[in-house]
Amino acid sequence: MTESLDIKLGVNIDHIATLRNARGENFPDPIKAAEIALNSGADSITAHLREDRRHINDEDIKNIVNAFPGKLNLEIAANDEMKNIALNVNPFSCCIVPERREELTTEGGLDVLSKANYYSNLNSILRDKGIRTSFFIDPIEDQLKSSIDCGVECVEFHMGKYCRLFYDDDVQAEIEFKKIYELSILAHESGLQVHFGHGLDYTTTKKLTEIPCLQEVNIGFFLIAEAILSGLEPSIRKMKKICNRNF
Ligand code: PXP
Repeated sequence: MTESLDIKLGVNIDHIATLRNARGENFPDPIKAAEIALNSGADSITAHLREDRRHINDEDIKNIVNAFPGKLNLEIAANDEMKNIALNVNPFSCCIVPERREELTTEGGLDVLSKANYYSNLNSILRDKGIRTSFFIDPIEDQLKSSIDCGVECVEFHMGKYCRLFYDDDVQAEIEFKKIYELSILAHESGLQVHFGHGLDYTTTKKLTEIPCLQEVNIGFFLIAEAILSGLEPSIRKMKKICNRNF
């Protein structure tokens, strides 16, 4: 396969809600952030409804679906509560992720292999409702093969390890890149869409575009951090003008 596929950008807005919740305010509003993202060229909005609702909450999810039909990629843990929410909310896409309450962020991929029947069943239930399904897994061959056997439509490889190696260890990063490349081809040739997510920034994403069958990236933390810093100057200039009674 030589021809490169288009790469869709999903913008993860979880951390807009993290900031909102830190002050118990109703801003910054994740819906506003979703609107800006879509108006700026993002193809979809990714949001993770965590069990502890630490950032995105149930109302946010409903509001995103209502305001932007066909644009929400809902990330959920594999359990009955989340499955029922997904069936009720009906996002265009559902990415199944592992979740541990105490973790700072999603620290690794799903162990599809050890619960293949469960994941296969969950996948069928979501697909029967017309929801696009995705499994968030580490780039490990056995996990990919098990995901393929489950009949999932997309696989999202967890890029956390690669992104760390990219800045820390050139040799190991290249080894990891080759592995991701080969597994991406295997996934693509098995009929799955190949997605990458977690820890991506401009530089790592640019490198990963060398993989021709990559079809979607989901990026949150870096974009939100970048937006805060690049937006600080105009915000402060505007406030200083007000302080100077220069309206
Ligand atoms: N994709 C998935 C499945 C995720 O769980 C996350 C958040 O951990 C992301 C993408 C976005 O990761 P980040 O915020 O590091 O860009």
